[in-house]
Amino acid sequence: MSQANETVRIDPSDGLPALKAGRWAVDEKHALLRNYVGICSATRRQFEPPPAWKAGTSYIDPYCGPGRIWVGQKNGPITFHDGSPLVAVKEAIAKQSAFMSVRIGDLEPTFVEATRQRLSSLAPDLRTEVGTAEETILKLTEGLNPKGLHFALLDPFGLAQLSFSIIEHLAKLPRIDLVIHVSAQDLQRNLEFFLDRSNSSLDQFAPGWRERLKPGTADTQRRQIFDHWLDLMRQTGLTHSKGITHVRADKNQSLYWLVHASRHPLGNAFWGKIENISPQAGLGF
Ligand SMILES: C[S@@+](CC[C@H](N)C(=O)[O-])C[C@H]1O[C@@H](n2cnc3c(N)ncnc32)[C@H](O)[C@@H]1O
Repeated sequence: MSQANETVRIDPSDGLPALKAGRWAVDEKHALLRNYVGICSATRRQFEPPPAWKAGTSYIDPYCGPGRIWVGQKNGPITFHDGSPLVAVKEAIAKQSAFMSVRIGDLEPTFVEATRQRLSSLAPDLRTEVGTAEETILKLTEGLNPKGLHFALLDPFGLAQLSFSIIEHLAKLPRIDLVIHVSAQDLQRNLEFFLDRSNSSLDQFAPGWRERLKPGTADTQRRQIFDHWLDLMRQTGLTHSKGITHVRADKNQSLYWLVHASRHPLGNAFWGKIENISPQAGLGF
C-alpha cells in the first residue's frame, strides 16, 4: 500500500480500510458534496431515461479513496465517516435521484476494492479502475451518454496528481459539473521549487503557467498561477462558479480551494446557494 501505514485504519463497522482525514473533510468537503448532490436532485431526475438511454446520470470519482475516512489524533479518540463516493451515492439515493452509473478509481488497489465492496448494494451500475486519474479517466467515462447529466469530484492530495488533461477530457461531456480540490498548501509550500525547476508537476497542472507569470510577491505569483488555471478551465467551455470555497485547517492555515465548474448557469447557481458553508475570508492570497 502506497500510503504510510498510520494513515490507514480498519473501520470496525465493516472490517475494511479507512483513510485519515482532517475534520474539515467532513465539515466542509463532504458537507458541500452532500449539499450539491442534494440540491441537484430535481435536475437529475429530469435525466432519468426513457428505456433506450444508458447512463442518463453519473457520478465520477477518480480519487475515490477507500470509501471511509477516519478523523482524530493518533492516540486520541477517533471517528469514522463516509468518504466521498459513499457520501455522494447515499445522498442521491436519499433524494430519490440515484446516479444511474457510478465510476470510481484510485491509484491504490485496496482502496478501489474497499469502495467497490461498500458500494456493492448501493450502485448497481458500478465501474472501477485502478491507476492514476490521468490514466483511468478515459475508461471511467467510457460509454457515458453525452446527453446525460454527469458530475465528477476531483479530490487529489496535491497538484502533482491533478493533470489538466483530466479536466480537458471531462469537459468534452456536454453536461458535466465538476467540484475540484486544488491544493493551496502545495502552491504555497512549493512555489520556489516550481519556479526553480524548468520541469515540474505544475506544468501538467496548469500548462503555460510560466509564460503567464509576472514579477511580484509570492502571493501575487500564486494568484497568477491560480488565475491562469481558472482561465484554462474557461477555455474548455466550463465556467467556474464565483464562490470558491477556501478550506483552512484548525490554526487557519490554508489547505485547499474547492472550485465548482459547470457549463450550465443552473449548476453555478446551485453551487452559489450552498458553497458558503463556513464563511472564509478570501482566497488566502
Ligand atoms: C484526498 S484522498 C481522496 C479522498 C476521497 N475523495 C474522500 O473524500 O473520501 C486522495 C486519494 O487519491 C489517491 N491517489 C493518489 N495519487 C493518485 C493519482 N495520481 N490518481 C488517482 N488517485 C490517486 C490516494 O490513494 C487517495 O485515496
